[in-house]
Amino acid sequence: MALGCAEVSRPSPATGRSQGDLAPARRVAGWLRPAWLEVDLARVTANVAHIARVVAPARVCAVVKADGYGHGAVQVARAAIEGGASYLGVALAEEGHELRQAGITTPVLVLSEPPAQAMRLVVEDGLTASIYTERGLAALVDAARSGPGGRPRVHLKLDTGMHRVGADEGTFLDLARRVASSSELHLEGVFTHLAVADEPGNDYTPAQLERFGRAVGRLRSEGVDPPLVHAANSAAALCHPGARFSMVRPGIAVYGLAPGPLVAGRPEVGALQPVLSLKAEVSFAKQVGAGERVSYGLRYEVAERSVIATVPLGYADGVPPRLVVVGGEVLVGGGRRPIAGTVTMDQIMVDCGPGSTVRAGDEVVLLGRQGDQEVTAWDWASRLGTIAYEVTCGLSPRLPRVYV
Ligand SMILES: Cc1ncc(COP(=O)(O)O)c(C=O)c1O
Repeated sequence: MALGCAEVSRPSPATGRSQGDLAPARRVAGWLRPAWLEVDLARVTANVAHIARVVAPARVCAVVKADGYGHGAVQVARAAIEGGASYLGVALAEEGHELRQAGITTPVLVLSEPPAQAMRLVVEDGLTASIYTERGLAALVDAARSGPGGRPRVHLKLDTGMHRVGADEGTFLDLARRVASSSELHLEGVFTHLAVADEPGNDYTPAQLERFGRAVGRLRSEGVDPPLVHAANSAAALCHPGARFSMVRPGIAVYGLAPGPLVAGRPEVGALQPVLSLKAEVSFAKQVGAGERVSYGLRYEVAERSVIATVPLGYADGVPPRLVVVGGEVLVGGGRRPIAGTVTMDQIMVDCGPGSTVRAGDEVVLLGRQGDQEVTAWDWASRLGTIAYEVTCGLSPRLPRVYV
């Protein structure tokens, strides 16, 4: 369990305020440092319910790999199930195991073919294996024979053009015939993955879907008709009705983030609500005179006498050092203020401006809302030339997570 997942009474170390003075989100066990991630699980539930409405009658497989994109896989999985998800997606058998250990019994698809040594765990935990190689199929059959009984569920993956993982059409059809006729395995699904679903109008998506549809059609013509057919990530689920088939696999949309800037304006995407905030309390604030310079390398020069606030989180928590170079800002004292100087391992400095009344204990928002201002994971991502996925996955497990 991540630090800080339950409630206790403990005074805040930074402010000395008693827990009774704090918002419910702040009354958390094991939480000593005044820097934290706030994860709004009601928003996960609402986002999944929204996706489920848009894609109905297709089922929703909520993707909670990489510890729920940095939000906490178990907590997100439970909230997603409440919102209507009836399948969960992970990257690793170990991630599926974590869900089972937490008592989650919903079907879990391991989205890439597990390595041979992980097949036993797949079988024992009743996870659904993605298969696209002879070797993988043989390893799963071996594990099924020595496992606890029952027929492991299989989803076969076709590579329709992304060329990451998946079988070519010939291998896919051959594997499908063999799994369908096996008494040891259950062919529950077939799927593919789309490379540019977040680029509306790119004709590579219909081309991939056409290849997928043709292969599925060939299987059906041979009497092989697995109930779950799926292709859509968040962008495709929300923006390409033709990609929904009988199940969709949203990840980033579950967390309330647009899959990419080109689809952010779509109403189906605009209805999503960001789930994660990154917050801290000012640990130290002082006046610094004009011409003084701040942090390692002395790269930031204070233009006129100003209040410099220190905030107790840094690159070891996932604040990218490059953020300062590309004009990264935080919300403090009701406004947007620049990060002042080099991001250090555990602390950053913020220039709160001349005459600022910011003091130790004041809330600082790095991601999320303060008053009518908001900084989103996409704000960081677009400054840094990356994607919001990398921002949330990059936040360190050292940060306590607070579930609200
Ligand atoms: C196979 C597969 N399906 C679904 C997803 C979810 O994608 P997104 O987060 O863009 O919705 C991913 C994520 O990378 C994936 O690898």
